[in-house]
Amino acid sequence: MAEAKVTVLRAAAEDIRAPLLAFFRFQDDAAVGGALSVLDGALSGAVRRVLERGDFQGRKDETVLLYGSGAHAPDRLALIGLGKRDGFTPQALRRAVGHAVRQAERVRVREIGIVLDGLEAGGKSPGALAVAASEAAVMAAWDWRDLKTTFDPPPVTVAEVRLFAVDDAQHALYQAAVAHGETLGRAANFARDLAIRPGNIATPSYLAGAARTLADRFGMKLTVLDRADMEREGMKALLAVAQGSEEEPRFIVLEHRTANAGKPLALIGKGVTFDSGGISIKPAERMEDMKFDMSGAAGVLGAMQGIAELGIAADVVAIVPSTENLLSGRAVKPGDVIGSLLGKTIEVVNTDAEGRLILADALAYARRLEPAAMVNAATLTGAVGIALGHHAIGLMGNDDALIEEVRAAGERTGERCWPLPLWDEYRAQIDSPVADLKNTGGRPAGAITAGWFLKEFAGDVPWVHLDIAATAYRDEPAPYLRKGPTGLPTRLLIEWVRGRVQT
Ligand code: BES
Ligand code: MN
Ligand code: ZN
Repeated sequence: MAEAKVTVLRAAAEDIRAPLLAFFRFQDDAAVGGALSVLDGALSGAVRRVLERGDFQGRKDETVLLYGSGAHAPDRLALIGLGKRDGFTPQALRRAVGHAVRQAERVRVREIGIVLDGLEAGGKSPGALAVAASEAAVMAAWDWRDLKTTFDPPPVTVAEVRLFAVDDAQHALYQAAVAHGETLGRAANFARDLAIRPGNIATPSYLAGAARTLADRFGMKLTVLDRADMEREGMKALLAVAQGSEEEPRFIVLEHRTANAGKPLALIGKGVTFDSGGISIKPAERMEDMKFDMSGAAGVLGAMQGIAELGIAADVVAIVPSTENLLSGRAVKPGDVIGSLLGKTIEVVNTDAEGRLILADALAYARRLEPAAMVNAATLTGAVGIALGHHAIGLMGNDDALIEEVRAAGERTGERCWPLPLWDEYRAQIDSPVADLKNTGGRPAGAITAGWFLKEFAGDVPWVHLDIAATAYRDEPAPYLRKGPTGLPTRLLIEWVRGRVQT
């Protein structure tokens, strides 16, 4: 895995140097001030010229490279558009930083400099902008080619990002912000590393191993249940999914505890390491993407890395039910009625609705810990992508205040969520003639009936469900990401937990 380091450098404007130096501009801002003005002098007015001619206007996603010559000129100066000043958010800066990193890759440069001077005018705090810029840089540089043995041409990834501070106050502020942003970016990259690994490598045992590494590194408590343990516990719904596979399932519980020993927050992630659909088998086209069906688990484990590294003073328990969903002579069949840890009986009408089965047992397990709140993340339904497309996580829950907390956290991190209603009227769709409920509710409102199924197991504990099926991996993601896993909702979860203890 390639990952960038972010450093803060204090430099006078005339001393700012980098093989590629990025400045960010609002659309139609005429003024060229501060450090950019000084560098423009060294470039014989090239910045002003390109603006005057309108060849660069600062539109969202617009970039231009200018070349200097001589000892005092920057080698390459990138102007990157932020779009309109009105309505500017840190997300626009994350995108712009992503473009800076892509430009560097294109010209095969491994170090970039970025200057954020002047952006506060957009109404955002310089600290928050430096956090967003550094997390975006770390995420943009991420690449995973561990299994490729030949390259043509060999790829270039950015290894170092220098954030320039033009005065001492800015330097101190940036130091803290960059440390925070790097931690968030690395946590998301940790999740992406897990998610991109193929199903023959990232098995349930592999996820347990990743949790072990985190536990050892940060002194967290880890409990891993195997198939026999799950049988003793009565995790019948999880076991029903696992029974079709030779691969050993795992139930992973990772605890970040503080001295307060208060009611914990529970983070629950769907860890289906490959989803064939089971007997209700999926079509072959893009079935390989179903290695990503453990993205919820990856996001939760990534969040635990971030929470531990930041030393957030909250009791947090991560719970990851993990199995494959395959077919065999022993696999669960449509029409089978199974039990569950909570005791409710479930008619399995479609073996491809397996995520809600394993989450049912995870929610029942989490409730025994008497959590203050539970949030689960799951690539649960194709239907969420029909409802919301690829730009919003489907957000459901049983507590309006918690729903709003999670939505606001996602808004801040650029992992946006949109609510779907769990109205009583939808519950009838999962009535079963033979069991307490059935595991699918037909085509209408498929994301909602999946949410309703989970709600039956969440009970009275404040609970939120994030359906990340259409957002956890992308063909055409934001510029600070690459095709493949997005690492979402890692940063959202960290931000939500942080917000619970620091208000
Ligand atoms: N893992 C899938 C959901 C999914 C679909 C994730 C597409 C990413 C992309 C889940 O287990 C599933 O198969 N859901 C079914 C539910 C249906 C049988 C009610 C679906 O969405 O088709
Ligand atoms: Mn499925
Ligand atoms: Zn699935």
